[in-house]
Amino acid sequence: MELEAKSPMKTQSQGMSRVTFWAFIVALMVILGGADGRMVKTFNTFEYSAISCRAHSASVTEFGAVGDGKTLNTRAFEAAIAHLSRYSAVGGGLLYVPAGRWLTGTFNLTSHFTLYLHRHAVLLASQDINDWPLSDPLPSYGHGREAPGGRYMSFIFGTNLTDVIITGDNGKIDGQGGVWWNKFHKGSLKYTRPHLIEIMHSRSVQISNLTLLNSPFWTVHPVYSSDIVIQGVTILAPVKSPNTDGIDPDSCTNTRIEDVHIVSGDDCVAVKSGWDEYGISYGMPTRQLVIRRLTCISPYSAMIALGSEMSGGIEDVRAEDITAINTESGSGSRLLWAGRICEGYLCEGNENAHHEVGLLMDGNYGSHPDPHYNPKARPMITGINYRI
Ligand SMILES: *[C@@H]1O[C@H](CO)[C@@H](O)[C@H](O)[C@H]1NC(C)=O
Ligand SMILES: *[C@@H]1O[C@H](CO)[C@@H](O)[C@H](O)[C@H]1NC(C)=O
Ligand SMILES: *[C@@H]1O[C@H](CO)[C@@H](O)[C@H](O)[C@H]1NC(C)=O
Repeated sequence: MELEAKSPMKTQSQGMSRVTFWAFIVALMVILGGADGRMVKTFNTFEYSAISCRAHSASVTEFGAVGDGKTLNTRAFEAAIAHLSRYSAVGGGLLYVPAGRWLTGTFNLTSHFTLYLHRHAVLLASQDINDWPLSDPLPSYGHGREAPGGRYMSFIFGTNLTDVIITGDNGKIDGQGGVWWNKFHKGSLKYTRPHLIEIMHSRSVQISNLTLLNSPFWTVHPVYSSDIVIQGVTILAPVKSPNTDGIDPDSCTNTRIEDVHIVSGDDCVAVKSGWDEYGISYGMPTRQLVIRRLTCISPYSAMIALGSEMSGGIEDVRAEDITAINTESGSGSRLLWAGRICEGYLCEGNENAHHEVGLLMDGNYGSHPDPHYNPKARPMITGINYRI
């Protein structure tokens, strides 16, 4: 696979101490012809109807939920969403979560649906592992990322959906991940940890105006999906929590991430597309990704990583107005293509930036699903641009 980029550049710098505003653009593109200094492709724009446009709405309290932080409300969320799913084809449904602390296990979303959190609403993920059913590994990974078997279902999950909005007036979704991080450190987990939000095989998805806290594993994981907007979201996890990536677009087309602030124990944004031979045979790249107005604190990881699992390819990534407040690397790529891994960190190198590493290419990331990968498969990396 050959990749090439041609992109306009932009610079923005502000003299705030310990904070550097900068812009860079990375574009990886399949070669379509000769380089001529312009973007070959344009990114589609796409719009969503306003949340008030859902024809039907219900409050989770109508289904018996109690917002005392103690009552387990899984059944109430399931019943409310099952009820609203009847309106998918006739105007759609909105589920309102009022002020309160709403403890629940995992639940599934439905199409033409809005989950709306009041400003003082907090969804609390159950800390009882029995409230987390198992799901199959992703086909483009072949195995769970952390263990050979399945994965725990994500706290909020949707598959094969169209037109889903998760939003609120900056309400909170708290994964209460500490229990998972402890089990991970003790090595006592049999399956891969859950994400806070996973949307799979879906189209037209918006996640906005929320605070997402303490995910057990990667926080927001759109996979095999298209037309995704993640906007106005704050993602927070302790900087030493394991693998709490912020946003991981994985084999997704047309994703926009903007006005997002992330503090995490791993990469703020990690762009993915499957793992070794499974990613190659699934063959679904992440393409047309725009990241703008991202601020990131992740002292031990990258602001933006490409990889490590990117065996299905990555094309057309553009990042601009990105602020690394404190990261190991300003932007990085850990490109993993089957057996051979090329790990690179791209950094704008501004002296105010708190990055340990500017640009690093590493040929041995050393993480494989099983011994069947092709050690001769190599990543081709071309057309990476960045500018301060
Ligand atoms: C949620 O969706 C998954 C995948 O389709 C399914 O296996 C699971 O049974 C669903 N859970 C509920 C409670 O409907
Ligand atoms: C969801 O979509 C995928 C990809 O199109 C398809 O393979 C799968 O069978 C669908 N699953 C369901 C439950 O419809
Ligand atoms: C987020 O909230 C702001 C302020 O309430 C509002 O203007 C904006 O439209 C919301 N954005 C989205 C994407 O919902």
